[in-house]
Amino acid sequence: MSLEKNIKIIFENIKLENNIDFFKLWKETYKIVNPSKSLDLNNMLTAIRINKSFYLCKYFIFAKDLKGDFLECGVLKGFSSYLLRSLEDQLFKDTINNYFLIDSFEGLSDFLDEDKSLNPDIIQNKKGDLKANIEDVKVLFNQFKNVNIIKGWIPKVFESLDEKNKYKFVHIDVDLYQPTFDSLNYIYDKIVEGGILITDDYRSPSFPGNQKAWEKYFNSKNIRSLSLPSGQAVVIKE
Ligand SMILES: C[S@@+](CC[C@H](N)C(=O)[O-])C[C@H]1O[C@@H](n2cnc3c(N)ncnc32)[C@H](O)[C@@H]1O
Repeated sequence: MSLEKNIKIIFENIKLENNIDFFKLWKETYKIVNPSKSLDLNNMLTAIRINKSFYLCKYFIFAKDLKGDFLECGVLKGFSSYLLRSLEDQLFKDTINNYFLIDSFEGLSDFLDEDKSLNPDIIQNKKGDLKANIEDVKVLFNQFKNVNIIKGWIPKVFESLDEKNKYKFVHIDVDLYQPTFDSLNYIYDKIVEGGILITDDYRSPSFPGNQKAWEKYFNSKNIRSLSLPSGQAVVIKE
């Protein structure tokens, strides 16, 4: 049986809050963010991305009524931020919180030993890979109010954010050990009670540094996080 058929069995007709059709929203986002690519539902990476997006949407809805901003570290072409910003548009008439989207727009930073996979069958990315054009991302988000796209390297780039900002939803998707750890260090205390912190690559064979940084940070604080079936991990701030 094809992967496409399985994806449809699992994800078609899932209604989110306000009767929003999850899979329709996902496909619309894909088309807008990747206008020149055709969608291949027989690709395992696509299936993984749909699965991760579903969890992002569910946790985003959980936090929607809290007071606080949205922050994403690791934007690339804007897929996950666009998905959630579009979802917010369908949940509320008027968006009052800000969106801060942070990326080097120069691709991945340095790989440390923590980032190196011990599995020789895995072909890893390298420094400078996953580079997107900030101007394209700006155009993508033009239609939305309150979206701030910020270029710079983590952790230095955090100096452009107001120290007093409080966040209700944070998505960390920078793949590597050091920027993941630096992001947690900067952000965790600024998340409001009940707010959500999700990391994308917790169980990624290609980016083992993400889990190491996440566990180092939360173990040192004695905070439990949940590893999701999608490969992400989440903490709900208490
Ligand atoms: C997997 S991509 C993000 C994917 C994106 N969330 C999406 O939905 O398509 C990882 C991003 O992290 C950024 N990145 C990696 N290390 C960084 C660092 N030290 N500072 C800033 N950005 C970084 C890269 O430029 C890249 O765009």
